[in-house]
Amino acid sequence: MQPLSLASAEVLAGGAATPIAFPGQYWDQMFNIWLFVAIGIYLIVALPMLYFLVKYRYRKGVNEQGAQEEAGPGIGIEVLWTVIPLIIVIYLATQSLAFYTRQRTPPADSLPVKVESAMWSWNFEYSNGKKSTTDLYVPVGKPVKLLLTSKDVIHAFHVPEAKTMEDVVPGRVTHLWFQFNKTGEYRAYCREYCGGAHAFMLATIKVVTPEQFEQWLKQPG
Ligand code: CUA
Repeated sequence: MQPLSLASAEVLAGGAATPIAFPGQYWDQMFNIWLFVAIGIYLIVALPMLYFLVKYRYRKGVNEQGAQEEAGPGIGIEVLWTVIPLIIVIYLATQSLAFYTRQRTPPADSLPVKVESAMWSWNFEYSNGKKSTTDLYVPVGKPVKLLLTSKDVIHAFHVPEAKTMEDVVPGRVTHLWFQFNKTGEYRAYCREYCGGAHAFMLATIKVVTPEQFEQWLKQPG
């Protein structure tokens, strides 16, 4: 699998302003494609339906028997309304798989951070051994790859701005990636019901400049 370059991610973002966080743009694009196809199919079905509703409506003395079909539909139309939907669903399936793969594949230069969840807290560990609880520091403009596991029950790490979420399962390491493009503080949530204090199982993603991040990373503790 070719790792995603963020230049291409920005192109995919539609040339519009860079979103606050990646990879949410893949969701948006898939949503728009499905919406566009759904509206197209709706119009193709609904407009003729309205036309025929009026054309073959019951009229006393004119149309009391309803429409009389001369013959069954021809083989041509049968093939057409089988092949066209087939092409559409193949298109949607392959597109979805491509977007899903991109959304799931962390870019090669991602910053790895280990995450251990416990009832009810988030603990982070960086590659130099530095640890933090609740506050997840990340540099702006850099993809971050979280390697998640749980001490006790199943939790889920959810980053709304990046439109990404992953289950955090004991005895397993799962992953997700995101990148923030704007400094600031963002909220991450536990999104799997995990007991009494589930609703309070929050983390704060502190997105700082690369310099601030390097400085923070070097501090002991
Ligand atoms: Cu942890 Cu819900």
